[in-house]
Amino acid sequence: MSEKNICYKKASEYWAEIPATLDGVLGGFGFISDIDIDGSTLFLKSILSSEDAPRPGSALDCGAGIGRITKHLLAPLFERVDIIEPDEKFINTIISFVGENKIKIGSLYKTSLQKFEPERKYDIIWNQWVLGYLTDIDLVAYLSCCRDALSSKGVLIVKENVTSSGKPEIDETDSSVTRPLKQFLKIFKLAKLKRIKQCKQTNFPAGIYPVYMFALIPIDREAS
Ligand SMILES: C[S@@+](CC[C@H](N)C(=O)[O-])C[C@H]1O[C@@H](n2cnc3c(N)ncnc32)[C@H](O)[C@@H]1O
Repeated sequence: MSEKNICYKKASEYWAEIPATLDGVLGGFGFISDIDIDGSTLFLKSILSSEDAPRPGSALDCGAGIGRITKHLLAPLFERVDIIEPDEKFINTIISFVGENKIKIGSLYKTSLQKFEPERKYDIIWNQWVLGYLTDIDLVAYLSCCRDALSSKGVLIVKENVTSSGKPEIDETDSSVTRPLKQFLKIFKLAKLKRIKQCKQTNFPAGIYPVYMFALIPIDREAS
């Protein structure tokens, strides 16, 4: 388990020093944003056109940074996007960064995922490049809370780096953990979530972690 290596204070101090830019939120990899969004768009559209698809109603962007995913992926496809982001400078940048689609932004929650309490149901809950900041225990609790905040056909998305070593790898700089695939699967099971789709992001540069997208729904949801 990775709990002992994660320090929430250290992570928030790290992000407080990072500029509110694409390169800032992507750790110097701003140039992969378009490829990332293309992969996410294909994945999300396949879910939205599937049997039992969620409605394109409310989406939640979790650990949103400056609103990159809201701007390029969620706001164009959903009626409303709520946002969670704990860093003050990032949250204050979102409205201007999102630009013309800012009218789609609903609630801006300045809080961390481990403290978030949903006030409504969501058709899509998007978690990307943020779950490594949570301990395993908090992650299971958070995902369970998201599971309960899904609308009747809602889908929870996780898009995260995954280790190739089969072991968790700690980054002391930003106090995060990169988990192996099997650890994610164990965590999803503990959160009573089942995978309905999984895909590896393609066309990323060599030398970075493999990135996986998972679409998850409550384990006990009946097909209609
Ligand atoms: C690598 S950036 C990714 C931003 C965005 N998801 C994207 O893909 O453009 C990580 C973000 O997670 C936020 N973050 C870090 N720890 C968090 C926590 N415990 N709860 C919520 N957000 C957190 C940071 O402030 C930062 O905005």
